[in-house]
Amino acid sequence: MKMGKIRDTREIRRVVYLCEGKVCGPAGGAENTAALREALGERGVPGVHTMRTGCQGFCKRAPVVSVQPDGVWYGEVTPTTARRIVEDHLVAGKIVEERVFTSEPGL
Ligand code: FES
Repeated sequence: MKMGKIRDTREIRRVVYLCEGKVCGPAGGAENTAALREALGERGVPGVHTMRTGCQGFCKRAPVVSVQPDGVWYGEVTPTTARRIVEDHLVAGKIVEERVFTSEPGL
């Protein structure tokens, strides 16, 4: 059985928003989505839903991934970082600090 598959929206505890907008997409957004989803599938993290998005408004930090409702925004994400978001943040509860940004929105 594939663990971590959402069957009921009431199971959702976190949503990972993976930007594939006009800036993040060409900067590796789709590769990040693939890596993060693959790692989630391998680890079977329960209650995590992923969504590909358009621009999240922080293009200067592209490619962007955010984890809600944790309020954590990751920038300059690579597939390696995406896998660490799964392993460190979503499984172990430790934010990948060196990729977190806090800034004003900007395109
Ligand atoms: S395209 Fe990703 S934040 Fe703008």
